Amino acid sequence: MIKIQPLKENDFKRVLEIEKELFQDPMTYSELVNFTKQDCFKIWKMEINQIIGYVSFFKIKNEIEIIKIGINKAYQGKGFGSCLINEMKKAEVNYFFLEVSVENIFAINFYFKNGFYKIGERKMYYKQKDNSRIDALTLCLKI
Ligand SMILES: CC(C)(COP(=O)(O)OP(=O)(O)OC[C@H]1O[C@@H](n2cnc3c(N)ncnc32)[C@H](O)[C@@H]1OP(=O)(O)O)[C@@H](O)C(=O)NCCC(=O)NCCS
Repeated sequence: MIKIQPLKENDFKRVLEIEKELFQDPMTYSELVNFTKQDCFKIWKMEINQIIGYVSFFKIKNEIEIIKIGINKAYQGKGFGSCLINEMKKAEVNYFFLEVSVENIFAINFYFKNGFYKIGERKMYYKQKDNSRIDALTLCLKI
């Protein structure tokens, strides 16, 4: 059975493992701890026996800003990421916002499939491994 729940401290290690697997610039333990100290910052985990994915976001009044969403590679393309988005849509919010790299075509398609649309571009938003910078799209979803 799939469970989606707020992340607990003893889940940090597993989430950081998934971060390392999926992202060029994975969060460090201390970054994660600092984020979780902020009132508006939330992370939800998705579990099927063990954690297979998560979404981190800021929820401020009626808006959610998604920071990262990640599904363990072995589970990608099976609807789990969409399931996390659908769970977030149940929160009492009117708008979702996020930035996504212009090169992350899978993620852009994933967000479009889940109802997001482009509202802008942010030049040189993300730093890459070689220190060059890459543009991001700003996407929005109105509930
Ligand atoms: C983006 C991500 C969260 C989507 O979760 P998911 O569970 O794989 O996505 P779903 O199964 O719910 O949706 C699949 C859709 O996403 C897109 N997609 C996502 N990953 C894909 C992949 N590896 N190959 C092809 N399409 C992919 C497609 O549009 C697909 O739709 P389709 O099945 O109709 O072709 C997940 O692939 C992931 O963790 N990617 C790496 C981390 C990342 O880039 N996160 C987003 C930026 S923070």
